[in-house]
Amino acid sequence: MKILFIGDIAGSPGRDMIKEYLPKLKGKYRPNVTIVNGENAASGKGITEKIYKQLLEWGADVVTMGNHTWDKKEIFEFIDQAKKMIRPANFPEGTPGKGIVFVNINGVEVAVINMQGRTFLPAIDDPFRKMDELVTEAKKRTNIIFVDFHGEATSEKQAMGWYLDGKVSAVVGTHTHTQTADERILPEGTAYITDAGMTGPYDSILGVEKEAVLKKFLTSLPVRFEIDTTGRKQLNGVLVSIDNKTGSAVNIERILINDDHPFFS
Ligand SMILES: [Fe+2]
Ligand SMILES: [Fe+2]
Repeated sequence: MKILFIGDIAGSPGRDMIKEYLPKLKGKYRPNVTIVNGENAASGKGITEKIYKQLLEWGADVVTMGNHTWDKKEIFEFIDQAKKMIRPANFPEGTPGKGIVFVNINGVEVAVINMQGRTFLPAIDDPFRKMDELVTEAKKRTNIIFVDFHGEATSEKQAMGWYLDGKVSAVVGTHTHTQTADERILPEGTAYITDAGMTGPYDSILGVEKEAVLKKFLTSLPVRFEIDTTGRKQLNGVLVSIDNKTGSAVNIERILINDDHPFFS
């Protein structure tokens, strides 16, 4: 089982990269499941129903979210019908949407879980205790469990990786918009990377126009952060290969496409 995961899609540059490169990546790597993080897909802030449907059309099987889940008001109108979308599972009880989804690939089930850290992010339910619950639920159906852990602190993400080692197939971090080079298979068979990175503007600061962010740092004045839609673009992600029987990961590979790391088919 090969799972392709694409890091935070930021605005139209990110969507353009998905449309252009997802078919090429699928041709090259032949993933069985494709998961994309869509929390920034609508101009950096949340997602719309139209964009959610586009991402599925362009080849995503599951769309994960994060702290930007509620940024677009219309999310409340479609999240409960969006069967392939998950938001962090440790949002408070009663929150719209769900945090786990099962995908069936020719009779093989894959559980995908979205969870959010709470270090330097809003105080929500304990992601570790919530993971215990969801792993137990998932294990009733499958050994193949993929986790998008949306977190700010490297320590919290590493902690989750070790906490889940041997219990899930992969713990892939999102949210920081910068790909880390620490991909590995942990000793008990869980693939891990602190952050898969961001898909969107390349010459930017975490996807945002660099001039605006610089102004903020230089003046501390209020500044409107917008996705840079003018410059070069990048795509970040990982490919995880999993043993179907045991659910253990056998390989994790970073995917990086930009002008300095061109795509080769
Ligand atoms: Fe993000
Ligand atoms: Fe985020």
